[in-house]
Amino acid sequence: MRIFVSLLKSTNPKIEFYSRFSPSPLSIKQFLDFGRDNACEKTSYMFLRKELPVRLANTMRETNLLPDPLLGMPSVRLVQKWYMQSFVELLEYENRKPEDPQALNDFLDLLIEIRNRHNDVVPTMAAGVIEYKEKFGFDPFISSNIQYFLDRFYTNRISFRMLINQHTLLFGNDTNPAHPKHIGSIDPTCSVAEVVTDAYDTARMLCEKYYLAAPKLKIEEFNMKAPDKPIQAVYVPSHLFHMLFELFKNSMRATVELHEDNEEGLPPVKAKVTLGKEDLSVKISDRGGGVPLRKIDRLFNYMYSTAPTPSLQPGTVPLIINHEFSSSCVSFLQALSSESFERLPVFNKSALRHYKTSPEADDWSNPSREPRDATPSDPKKKESS
Ligand SMILES: Nc1ncnc2c1ncn2[C@@H]1O[C@H](COP(=O)(O)OP(=O)(O)O)[C@@H](O)[C@H]1O
Ligand SMILES: [Mg+2]
Repeated sequence: MRIFVSLLKSTNPKIEFYSRFSPSPLSIKQFLDFGRDNACEKTSYMFLRKELPVRLANTMRETNLLPDPLLGMPSVRLVQKWYMQSFVELLEYENRKPEDPQALNDFLDLLIEIRNRHNDVVPTMAAGVIEYKEKFGFDPFISSNIQYFLDRFYTNRISFRMLINQHTLLFGNDTNPAHPKHIGSIDPTCSVAEVVTDAYDTARMLCEKYYLAAPKLKIEEFNMKAPDKPIQAVYVPSHLFHMLFELFKNSMRATVELHEDNEEGLPPVKAKVTLGKEDLSVKISDRGGGVPLRKIDRLFNYMYSTAPTPSLQPGTVPLIINHEFSSSCVSFLQALSSESFERLPVFNKSALRHYKTSPEADDWSNPSREPRDATPSDPKKKESS
């Protein structure tokens, strides 16, 4: 315990120091260009030994702004301990020269260790929020703080892992021989329909296991730029897969539960991949009964979801359109790799304000709780009073 306290004392100024830098967002094109042109391990090392502590410190300072009772939850403390340990371990490289091959090797090993240490951050953080909710109940102000925090915290985590993965895939031994054309985790010619089919197949197996049946997939492609060509994007296929897998699971569950006794069989889940002038979108639609408009906001609220999932990937704006019997969810992907920059949370005064500002009176009218007396007033009564 004493060692930990003294470590904390000496590390705090470093966290303060690194959190004063804003993270440097990279575009997917920059990731690609760097990985392609005889990627230089020393350059990557020098960038990461500063950028990783910067990204960690930014999110660590923000975590400290969470309400004290939430910070006291054992799972949240565990997550904080992982971040602290990784931060401290990265500091060891502040003064190790890139010319030292041992430093490069040790750094690579450390990145893999850090990645493994942080594997369970999402479920552990989610457990912390659940522990908190069970103990203290639901408070709209705290919930909106948690929402704001988790969106940023999970986005930071995705970006942090992306940097680690690019480095270890390019310079380590864990290159994937199945995908020689990939640059690290990026597929420069990612076939969107293929990922859609993969995600569907995985969800279908799960669905068949639980329900002994699964709806079919109907996939359509509209390439407005080159009508006969399959739609491709520069993308991280695993990210797209995760998003679509979640959507397929939702659609399948809703479809099977609504149509279980339907003799005509299950209506298919539809996927429509469209490449327009500027946007690339994937729309997943089902006839599983839809979600009432009233509940749509809740779908994106971490404190409501039955099993919290990681936040949305940067560049994705889902929008669930509800028609009586069906749901559609559209994910927009950035079609231009040079425009597709990481969108990173920055710890600064405006972020701070989000946590400190207490809720003010709503600036939109609220229907009054008491039903208004709509009976016409009695003119005689008025006169007499
Ligand atoms: N395609 C859909 N059709 C009908 N209901 C849906 C659909 N997608 C989501 N829902 C509803 O929204 C809820 C929340 O979805 P989600 O955030 O994915 O959490 P989970 O799937 O873990 O419950 C689901 O439990 C379900 O009631
Ligand atoms: Mg779900």
